[in-house]
Amino acid sequence: MNKKFIISVLSLVGVAFYSPAQNKLVINADQGKETISKHIYGHFSEHLGHCIYGGYWVGENSPIPNTRGIRNDVVKALKDIQIPNLRWPGGCFADEYHWMDGIGPRDQRPKMVNTHWGGVTEDNSFGTHEFLDLCEQLGCEPYISGNLGSGSVEEMSKWVEYISFDGESPMSNLRKQNGREKPWNVKFWGVGNESWGCGGSMTPDHYSDLYRRYATFCRNYGDNRLYKIACGANEADYNWTETVMKNVGNRMQGLSLHYYTIPKTWGNKGSATQFDEAEYFTTIEKTLKMEELLTKHSNIMDRYDPQKRIGLITDEWGTWYNVEPGANPGFLYQQNTLRDAIVAGINLNIFNSHCDRVKMTNIAQTVNVLQAVILTDEEKMLLTPTYWVYYLYKVHQDAKLLPVSLTGEKYELDGRKMEAISASASKDASGKIHVTLVNIDPNKELTIETELRGVNVKSVSGQVLTSAKINDYNSFENPNTVTVKDFKGAKLSGGKLSVALPAKSVVVLELN
Ligand code: AHR
Repeated sequence: MNKKFIISVLSLVGVAFYSPAQNKLVINADQGKETISKHIYGHFSEHLGHCIYGGYWVGENSPIPNTRGIRNDVVKALKDIQIPNLRWPGGCFADEYHWMDGIGPRDQRPKMVNTHWGGVTEDNSFGTHEFLDLCEQLGCEPYISGNLGSGSVEEMSKWVEYISFDGESPMSNLRKQNGREKPWNVKFWGVGNESWGCGGSMTPDHYSDLYRRYATFCRNYGDNRLYKIACGANEADYNWTETVMKNVGNRMQGLSLHYYTIPKTWGNKGSATQFDEAEYFTTIEKTLKMEELLTKHSNIMDRYDPQKRIGLITDEWGTWYNVEPGANPGFLYQQNTLRDAIVAGINLNIFNSHCDRVKMTNIAQTVNVLQAVILTDEEKMLLTPTYWVYYLYKVHQDAKLLPVSLTGEKYELDGRKMEAISASASKDASGKIHVTLVNIDPNKELTIETELRGVNVKSVSGQVLTSAKINDYNSFENPNTVTVKDFKGAKLSGGKLSVALPAKSVVVLELN
């Protein structure tokens, strides 16, 4: 009798063969020393397209429900995901922005041209007071990007004084005159944005010198201790990181990194909604590059800062596609599909795993621009698949990262391969363990056998984000096509947890 025959006979009579789990996740619940900063779940909003105007700001006289001109629906949605910080006013816009144009009576504020983004008129009706009011309504920390590219040292220095000085001074008096008696606490200050490109086309040596000069005059007033963030590298520009670390060192508290997932090329980035599986594969492959970038930039930082005092701040990341047909090319308005949710889930798991060095990230951009979490159309608002990932992952904010190891299947397409599952786990202050899982494979349900070390888990519950097609999205007509549902695919038995992850899904589990 040959082996094949014996196997088929035994299968017919129902003999179960020992087959090791294809996917195995080990969670070390009694280990872990690093905290996942809540700021890893941060956002970025620029004066670009309909992010600020229409996205947040509708003005006090708008029929759209608002509080002092800021949309109530958008504020509520962002509070529901516990938005921890908001970066503003740019981006490239930041290095053209003159903050004094955005204070005082709105009808007297000077106008400017937004040369980077569509050449439209910026009337400065949303300025410092409106932004800080927005942050107060959101309950989040402001992160202001100062203008190093075209603004003066004096201008940046006075902005810090205007916002955070409590005593008697020309700038604090001006603030009071404009209706704000008490200073604001603004800790996070960016000193220039993309100074290697739209922020001034500088070399890293030249930028380092300018950083040192500008940052010197950004003062700590009272108990407002600035966390100064230097402009960091574009993608894999390791020389930039090396040079700025060497020249600036501990004069900065954070160093940024920008990396966008662009499925095709800068000239034709690909459509947000019309893509085939090969393009999906490439998108994920490019997203996974974040792991390599963080590792290599961190390695350089480790040489100059072994105690990890300086945070790596990925303050621009996300997908970047062609604008939607008919949209102003300068407005960067794109739809958001289940593919974007998978991209977000993977990136956030990667950021968590680097939380010893990565202290903040800001997805670009919150409303109506690039990988937005919210889209608006006049009075209508929808939550994108990416929004729902932030909703699921908020449990990781300020939780302890738990070490995990994952072995398993590959997702394969035309001879190309990648790991099919991405995972992250954390323990919160109340002792609850949360696991976030992404099944990247768009065609196959994957079962994971999970070993829970150092903990006695009694119950498991979960939520899942998936949809019929990888390019499904939420529209104003059908806003709930891709949304979160209760997850029933996790089974606990004898201390082992088995999870059946649907194809192309993002799952969060809570273990008690
Ligand atoms: O997010 C859009 C733009 O991308 C930002 O303004 C700029 O910093 C980056 O190049």
